[in-house]
Amino acid sequence: MIRSLRGMNDILSQDYERFEYFIDTASKIARRYGFHYIETPLLEETALFKRSVGESSDIVGKEMYQFTDKGGNDVCLRPEGTAGVVRAFIQNKLDKKGGIHRFFYHGPMFRYERPQKGRLREFHQFGVESFGVKSVFEDASMIMMISDIFNALKIGYTLKLNSLGDQNCMPEYRENLVKFLDLHVNEICSDCQRRKETNPIRVLDCKNESCQTLYAQAPKLFNNLCDSCKSDFDTLLKLLDENKIAYEIDTHLVRGLDYYSKSAFEFVSTEIGSQSAIAGGGRYDRLVEFLDGKETPAVGFAIGIERLLELIIMPQSRREGYYFGAMDDNALSTTMKAAQSRRSSEKVIIEYSAKSLKAHLKGADRVNARYCAVIGENELKDGTIWIKDLDKRSEKIISLDKFQELTCKKF
Ligand code: HAM
Repeated sequence: MIRSLRGMNDILSQDYERFEYFIDTASKIARRYGFHYIETPLLEETALFKRSVGESSDIVGKEMYQFTDKGGNDVCLRPEGTAGVVRAFIQNKLDKKGGIHRFFYHGPMFRYERPQKGRLREFHQFGVESFGVKSVFEDASMIMMISDIFNALKIGYTLKLNSLGDQNCMPEYRENLVKFLDLHVNEICSDCQRRKETNPIRVLDCKNESCQTLYAQAPKLFNNLCDSCKSDFDTLLKLLDENKIAYEIDTHLVRGLDYYSKSAFEFVSTEIGSQSAIAGGGRYDRLVEFLDGKETPAVGFAIGIERLLELIIMPQSRREGYYFGAMDDNALSTTMKAAQSRRSSEKVIIEYSAKSLKAHLKGADRVNARYCAVIGENELKDGTIWIKDLDKRSEKIISLDKFQELTCKKF
């Protein structure tokens, strides 16, 4: 038997219901914040990720699904969504146009990581990217949007925040950190020795315990931010306080992608095991320019959908639309006609064989229909239809002609 590849899962029935509920809820909230849907290809030139996510990152260094296509192009399956959206933003000349552009997306991402609970090789993200807003109010809005999404889904979280500085304060900090690492080079793990050469900041989120103990004494960028970064970070904290969003400042939060500057944040859950990050994001003001576009401030985030599925609490009733059935073979075509009249505005499921009323009610329950509509011998004779509202547990018989004119709400 051929099986799916390791770390790549099917999403079926119950899980899919949660998955779809998540996408619907998050999309609705993103639209309320003024974001528009964008779709970008799953396959992009490898160079796009090398230049944005960064050659020294684990994602680019170890985890890309990279290959040469039949035309000899070096391509890879997208490991994340931001780079593709930035490419689309530049390619469609929105950077030259100026103004504010806000996008959201959802879809599969691919990382060749070691699979375990919460860590897949094909996983799905819901992400948003905002271009053209320099103000830190937009960073606060991003965090509020994630908070709105998690609150709507009744998901508990802890928000971790840091500032990664900018081109004014980061280089000096990097030098100080390297000096510190040079002094302790024999005490740090081999990964950190490599990071010291390629991207020193990344040592701060090393998982090795003795490295972590040592880095508690390392210089902190947070204490050496330039005036502009410091004032933006203070404003961000003030906005979150005013909007009653709790946070923890985590000076070791550096994120695994190289494009961030200034605010960086991660949402974690204590209920899903070791892969606890459920969302991450931050500001990336240099990336558009870095990918040959016109300098444009930008900020965004992505939520990992699979990690949330077990946490989502679905509303009590998710019943929607109609289930139609006939109790007599002679009533089948009339039932189909009545059902068809609803399809322009409702979800409609039709049972094609005649069954007892009890069997139809079971069928309606199984497909989560709000209304069970049935035509039996008597209804056929009288030109009526029997309808039960499965939420309110009320039922009535109405004329078929009237039925075609009514909307669901009137029952
Ligand atoms: P990221 O932190 O790499 O950020 O991924 C965002 C979320 O995707 C994580 O918090 C996690 O929930 C989920 N995730 C990551 N890897 C896996 C995996 N192997 N299996 C399951 N879930 C996973 C980004 O991707 C950035 N593009 C976010 C961003 C958007 N920053 C600015 N704009």
